[in-house]
Amino acid sequence: MAIPEIDLTVFPDDCDAFGHLNQASFLRLFERARWEMLAGGPGMDAFTRSGVWPAVRKASVDYSAAAYPGDVLRFTTVLIHIGRTSLTLRQAVRRVSDDRPVATAEFVFVCIDRAGRATPVPGALRDFLSQGEGGSAPARVTVNGVRLAVEVQGDGPAVLFIHGYPLDRTIWSQVMASLPGLTVIAPDLRGMGLSDAPDLGYSMATYAEDLAALLDARGVDRVVLCGLSMGGYVALEFLRRWRGRVRGLILMDTRADADTPEGRRARDEAAAAAREGGGEAIARAMLPKLLTPATLTERPGVAERVRTMMARAPVPGIVGALAAMRDRSDSSDLLPSLADLPTLILVGAEDRLTPPDRAEAMARAIPGARMEVIPGAGHLPPVEQPEATSAAIAAFLGSLP
Ligand code: MLT
Repeated sequence: MAIPEIDLTVFPDDCDAFGHLNQASFLRLFERARWEMLAGGPGMDAFTRSGVWPAVRKASVDYSAAAYPGDVLRFTTVLIHIGRTSLTLRQAVRRVSDDRPVATAEFVFVCIDRAGRATPVPGALRDFLSQGEGGSAPARVTVNGVRLAVEVQGDGPAVLFIHGYPLDRTIWSQVMASLPGLTVIAPDLRGMGLSDAPDLGYSMATYAEDLAALLDARGVDRVVLCGLSMGGYVALEFLRRWRGRVRGLILMDTRADADTPEGRRARDEAAAAAREGGGEAIARAMLPKLLTPATLTERPGVAERVRTMMARAPVPGIVGALAAMRDRSDSSDLLPSLADLPTLILVGAEDRLTPPDRAEAMARAIPGARMEVIPGAGHLPPVEQPEATSAAIAAFLGSLP
């Protein structure tokens, strides 16, 4: 179950002399939506019952479109961070009539007692807010000045799962749950999922540096890298820098070459679309390209899961990832040098973005690489065919020295 969405109507007295919803009134609506959310969950008295007050420590709002009297606005809330005494909520607002993103905001709260001392977040509230997170509650690790959300499960040799664009760690949930005897590590890359999304500073090098620092922070020396699509680009960048830390490589629905001039232009157009229409616009454009026609028509739950994952991606993270992909280097020259690295190339049989013939070319370029095609999958085998994907990964991992 997710945190409930709240619909609020804009009234004339919320508006300024120009007839727009006024920015200061907007803060009241954000607040009203949070109270309604509590009323529909643990109760409006969730704080006072525990003798706790939530003090706003920081508020940042990104206004993207005007709203007018009579507009019904839908407020969606996501828990970004919860610590012992503080929590961060992201609220996204869309106009119901045309589904247009109107604003997003982040609020940092510190729970205080009557004397103004920081005090633990009430348990009922913690349970209520944590329910919207996909997968199990992630840990937070600060690397290179950015807090990453990361899920770590199990014990044994480590596998680092790197998601694609504009997705998050939950794309791996089913695969991770089916790999016993391993430490599986799945972060949200900076700018995606529940990780911080700074405005600037995105490149393949930065993503790779974040991952190396994350492994250091977890005390993990060597890993198998498993990168899906953009995650594959990051994995190749990681290999350029830390070849000695990698004991096996899985490249899934990805490619080694750089963007063409036309592809680079398309990245800039997508960035403009994201700035204008948010993650929803990107989700609308991408969903049909990611999944097989059969998944789209016959498995609405899978399609909705992927759509939601993309739609909730923060705009700075989307724009940053597009720039990082646009500017990435060609890694084709790296492939022949991976001869001594056990490598598995996986691809969905119906992947239209990085089709099987491209995967085959990559497998041919890496001496000794194995390749497997997953039937019934497009660009996202971990959600379309999780069992076959997990079986291929498990067989490969089981074959490693
Ligand atoms: C992805 O799934 O990560 C993207 O499709 C990669 C890309 O656009 O190059």
